Amino acid sequence: MLRMKAAGIDAFGGEVQLLELAAPAPPAPDEVVISVRAAGVGNWDEIVRVGGWDVGRRPPLALGVEAAGVVAAVGEDVTSLAPGDAVLTHPLPLRHQGAWAERLVAPAALVARKPAAVPWAEAAAFAVPALTADQALTEAAPVRPGEWLLVHGAGGVTGELAVQLAVARGATVVATAGPSSAARIRGDGAHAVFDYHDPEWPTLVRNATPSGRGVGTAVNAVRGGAATALQTVADGGHLATITGDPPSPERGVTVANIYVRADGARLAALVAALADGLLSLHVGATFPLADAATALQGAVTGRAAGATVLTLEGISSDAADHK
Ligand SMILES: NC(=O)c1ccc[n+]([C@@H]2O[C@H](COP(=O)([O-])OP(=O)(O)OC[C@H]3O[C@@H](n4cnc5c(N)ncnc54)[C@H](OP(=O)(O)O)[C@@H]3O)[C@@H](O)[C@H]2O)c1
Repeated sequence: MLRMKAAGIDAFGGEVQLLELAAPAPPAPDEVVISVRAAGVGNWDEIVRVGGWDVGRRPPLALGVEAAGVVAAVGEDVTSLAPGDAVLTHPLPLRHQGAWAERLVAPAALVARKPAAVPWAEAAAFAVPALTADQALTEAAPVRPGEWLLVHGAGGVTGELAVQLAVARGATVVATAGPSSAARIRGDGAHAVFDYHDPEWPTLVRNATPSGRGVGTAVNAVRGGAATALQTVADGGHLATITGDPPSPERGVTVANIYVRADGARLAALVAALADGLLSLHVGATFPLADAATALQGAVTGRAAGATVLTLEGISSDAADHK
């Protein structure tokens, strides 16, 4: 059986290690096989590692739920993509293995073309935070032009993309960020940035809004931060949290608990905005596949400001190129 190199776990809760896994079979009619160039690493991969997020496959399991690479083979019904195309994807539920591997199987409907202007590492780390930020703003709390909107945790990759998307939709954005991120978030178009280290920040946010009413919508991207973000929301407003900590609704505020959903069409629109410079993503650290455990540790502890990426270029492969 043909094998491929991967990084992942042989049991839920196990250490991240290099694995030799079966390479994918030829793709099913709706699938593509991607030769992975780079894959994103996020603290959500830690949730997969310990068995807290069902990605559709059990160990032995390559971790990773987002990647960029080159199409190696397409199924017989796939007309939108061809071998050689540069692509990115968040392909859940997994059809074969996770993204920290030489080959990734994805339904063509969950794959977007990578514009040439977007570097591999940026493309690899883009799908999950971009789709999450977009879905938080679109589905749970639709943003209207002129609306006041808070992003709590704008210094992080997902929070910063939420700021950029909300600014692009005409919202007046206020944000929380630490001192080293504040200037960057202002540069994204935020009207005001408050340091989350100041415990008075929710009051400062409310006071910044017209008549001190509070924001119409808040997006929380801080673990355990949703209840505090709720304090800034006007009566009857919206709160979307992406960290699985929805507080009980109060004062007529709608609370949405957002989990990223795979969507190739939205991903294509979002990566086009990245290529056009309307969105940006900073890659903070890149590691070879062999250092996946270190990469994950860095993403979990937030040591690297910006996204963390595994690069697979230069890996000698005996995996098949299924034509
Ligand atoms: N539900 C979903 O589908 C989904 C999808 C994506 C992400 N998430 C979750 O969303 C969270 C953010 O993920 P990410 O990868 O975008 O984050 P990240 O890039 O790792 O963000 C880390 C940054 O957040 C800022 N921060 C840390 N503690 C903070 C606090 N108490 N208040 C405000 N800002 C704080 C810091 O920046 P500064 O100090 O420089 O401001 C830090 O550098 C994670 O918990 C992740 O698991 C969920």
